[in-house]
Amino acid sequence: MTATVGVERARETLRERFGAADAPAAVASAPGRVNLIGGHTDYNDGFVLPAAIDRRTVAAARPRGDRTVRVHTTDFDATATFDLDGIEPTDEATWSDYPKGVAQHLLARGHAVGGADLALVGGVPMGAGLSSSAAVEVATAAALTAAHGVDPGDELVDVCWEAETGFVGLSCGIMDQYTSVHGEPDSALFLDCRSRDHEAVPLPADEATLVVTDTNVRRELVSSTYNDRVATCRAAAEHFDSVLDHPVDALRDVSVAEFEAHESTLSDSFRKRARHVVTENDRVRAATSALRDGRLERVGALLDASHASLRDDYEVSVPELEAVVDVAGDLAGVYGSRLIGAGFGGCVLSLVRPDAVEAVTDAIETGYRERAHTDPDVHVCDPAAGVRHHE
Ligand code: GLA
Repeated sequence: MTATVGVERARETLRERFGAADAPAAVASAPGRVNLIGGHTDYNDGFVLPAAIDRRTVAAARPRGDRTVRVHTTDFDATATFDLDGIEPTDEATWSDYPKGVAQHLLARGHAVGGADLALVGGVPMGAGLSSSAAVEVATAAALTAAHGVDPGDELVDVCWEAETGFVGLSCGIMDQYTSVHGEPDSALFLDCRSRDHEAVPLPADEATLVVTDTNVRRELVSSTYNDRVATCRAAAEHFDSVLDHPVDALRDVSVAEFEAHESTLSDSFRKRARHVVTENDRVRAATSALRDGRLERVGALLDASHASLRDDYEVSVPELEAVVDVAGDLAGVYGSRLIGAGFGGCVLSLVRPDAVEAVTDAIETGYRERAHTDPDVHVCDPAAGVRHHE
């Protein structure tokens, strides 16, 4: 579904579900993302190299004169209603927690939105590690504020991140929301998650194509395992703070040499988790400079190394992800592949030579089916712009 189709569908959904109205709808769309490299570094104040992709979620919002929000999602054909003065999460996590969390955190930061009727049309595959939730958050926040003539400015990223961490309860880093807001066409973003500065790194369409294979495997308890990794990294950072002669606020502050000098003081599992993060930050910097120089073979080798580290040290892979990485690893025209997102299922990103995309896609589909006995969904993605308002 193109963004234009999504925009029309969102406007229609608003009319069908909530009736015609004089007030015009404010419509915004926001993309999902892939992350070329920098797995599980964002919540360690580290570096990432994501790109927003041409899969977008659209939100259309019409202001109401009261404090009620009604929101309909076409993804689940479901409607939720809540009052801005008493926003509560549902007992079992569900789609409506995202618009609720966004509304709550807009208000908490003093952005005076009022009630609204909202329609959401998802265009990012869900649960695949492509940040469908960030796309919902950013599109909702952009449409809801525009409907009320409010400009959240730079706080759009914070509001959406706070919705995810404070309301939904995933202790994630800033990468997904940041990329969904700031993505740039034909580029990846080299993002410093501590300073929150980014530089666009060109990803020319004639040099490399992003091929994303969704294993269609979704594991339970991803969020508790994820939060567990976050806690381990914090504890490891505290340990380094006590043994190094400079302050360590996060694993970002530990160099590979410092890690190696002190790794024997860590338990086995802390050592592996910390080694992944510390070495991954180096790989992100190396991949960024290789991409700038057009050294795609080198970028690919770093993607492969990132994947091995996520599998062996961070331990977030599963057999289905391994099946895709194995199949892709044998194919001509594949520079490199790695699992993206939190892990435990979801997607593998392969960086592919453009002239090989069709052959690679076919071979991954066949190879994965043979090994995993189920079909993958292969998405060929273009790097795209972040959040947009639609007239
Ligand atoms: C999830 C989180 C991100 C990031 C990745 C792993 O997608 O939402 O913040 O931590 O996992 O890199």
